[in-house]
Amino acid sequence: MGKITIAIDGYSSTGKSTIAKQLSKALGYVYVDTGAMYRAVTLYAIRNNLVGEDNLNVEAVIDELSRIHLKFVPNQLTGKSDMFLNDENVEQEIRTMQVSRQVSKIAAIKEVREKLVAIQQQMGIEKAIVMDGRDIGTVVFPDAELKIFMTASPRARAHRRYKELLDRGDKVTFEEVLNNVQERDHIDSTRKESPLRKAQGAVEIDNSDMGLEEQLERILNYARRLIEA
Ligand code: DC
Repeated sequence: MGKITIAIDGYSSTGKSTIAKQLSKALGYVYVDTGAMYRAVTLYAIRNNLVGEDNLNVEAVIDELSRIHLKFVPNQLTGKSDMFLNDENVEQEIRTMQVSRQVSKIAAIKEVREKLVAIQQQMGIEKAIVMDGRDIGTVVFPDAELKIFMTASPRARAHRRYKELLDRGDKVTFEEVLNNVQERDHIDSTRKESPLRKAQGAVEIDNSDMGLEEQLERILNYARRLIEA
């Protein structure tokens, strides 16, 4: 078959991006983290007071969309890509709890999704891509040859995220992280626009108790079979 499109969806902190990155490396494919794009739009909205703990100005967010320019720039040091928002590297800032707390609200806006989906579809036009997110197998690439749906228990996911944030020096409690994970699950899977759900034909992987190696090997097997078919 040759080049394929790999869509990886699932709940937050299921290790989607770790798997997707390694998969793309093993196959020599491009990796796109679509969550980074929703996070960057959210950061822009926070900075411009369009969203906060108790406010959301949907009309203003939509109005500002044409002024938001996103791009991924490869980072030689990390071997990954950094997210740039209007030519500023925001890779670190988009991963903070402040952004995590607001991102579901921004990701629920139809016009935001339309803009980002169009960019993502353009990025995948030549296939040979691994893209992770929430709606990749359902909306962005419904014809992807390989679709993966990753799940894990909320506690297992909160543990991973908590560790990540502590390692970066963020002062958060485990309860706070668990609440955020559960709240985002709820908003992401009940929103009107492209709710998170398992795409038709997707392979489900529950990694609450599965190591990285095993997950990677499984998915690589599926991918290689399709590529060589
Ligand atoms: O994968 P992540 O946790 O970095 O994603 C951040 C948020 O963006 C998440 O709460 C849901 C949203 N998102 C989305 O709605 N659609 C995508 N394709 C990717 C992310």
